[in-house]
Amino acid sequence: MSQFLPSVIITGTGAYAPANVVTNDDMAKIVDTSDDWIRSRSGISERRFAGDGESTSDMAVAAAAQAIDAAGIDRSEIDLVIVATMTPDMPFPSTACIVQSKLGLGNITAFDLQAACSGFIYALNTGSNMLRSGAYKKALIIGADKMSSVLDFEDRTTCVLFGDGASAVILEASDSAGVGILDSITGSDGSNPELLYQPAGGSSLPASTESVTARQHYIKMNGKEIFKLAVRVMGQVSCDILERNDYNTAQVDLVIPHQANMRIIDSLAKRIHLPLEKFHNNLDRFGNTSGASIGLALDEAFRAGRIRTGDLVLLVAFGAGLTWGSTLIKWQ
Ligand code: ACO
Repeated sequence: MSQFLPSVIITGTGAYAPANVVTNDDMAKIVDTSDDWIRSRSGISERRFAGDGESTSDMAVAAAAQAIDAAGIDRSEIDLVIVATMTPDMPFPSTACIVQSKLGLGNITAFDLQAACSGFIYALNTGSNMLRSGAYKKALIIGADKMSSVLDFEDRTTCVLFGDGASAVILEASDSAGVGILDSITGSDGSNPELLYQPAGGSSLPASTESVTARQHYIKMNGKEIFKLAVRVMGQVSCDILERNDYNTAQVDLVIPHQANMRIIDSLAKRIHLPLEKFHNNLDRFGNTSGASIGLALDEAFRAGRIRTGDLVLLVAFGAGLTWGSTLIKWQ
């Protein structure tokens, strides 16, 4: 082990969304829905769907290349890749290994992490602690999901809510104290997976003619229950991380919540007593991109000048599992 390193900072961000824009009116040509319903119930106006042959790793590589450029590092310096995804290119090998090869990285540690919509926060937490241990120096953290590959385009209650995309950050160890990723909280409750799941395609229900006919390879969701839990748990985990780091909500400069539904974000804002102006949202243009969502908003907020040195940034997510998490960053 090398010397103890007190801080882990984000030195570059990147994002990628496929070129193919699908509006609510386009969705209304596929299922019985309307622009008005989707906007009023979710806040989503359009989403991007990957093109033919465009996989999760392709999107991940595009976002990662941008983050590497922004950090100004050489690819050979990266010694860890984590890809947070629930829609890997294939069950195995991991998408992280495919990314390692496509980016021409060294023969480094590469693995996928599955925490659904909380994946980006889980990966930030895992990656930053691996750097803090001193065993790794520069990590590439990616959140990427091709949700269109698991959407049931005959189920209007789910297919209108999601989109495809990828996002990435470079994490580096730093000698400066009290900056960068200050803390993360992650949690789970697997007692009721049916709240949000893809029933088939895994070891409990391998692919079969029957499972395909029954449309069991697509997302199933109890939207109402997920909505209530998302607001409650994201509110709690936001307050918990601030409290344990001796901050109050008024000191937060920007919140980047998982981009699932504008009504969830509205309710969260009320619950933690922060005005919506302190939130950065882009789900109106991208929908819910699952593991990519927080990084996609983080990259956009940073490039738009909404995050400056010294800002206190709170990331908060909730997703299938159930999983949840929050990360507190003092931007350097
Ligand atoms: N277009 C038109 N009508 C629709 C659509 C649609 N796309 N989808 C559902 N409806 C209908 C329903 O059939 C129902 O009709 P009925 O009253 O005749 O039965 C009516 O609209 C109302 O349906 P509800 O389910 O009550 O609508 P609700 O206001 O609860 O909104 C929604 C549904 C948007 C799914 C909401 O519950 C939600 O956002 N839940 C959170 C889900 C989520 O964001 N999951 C993402 C993953 S987890 C995470 O990322 C946090």
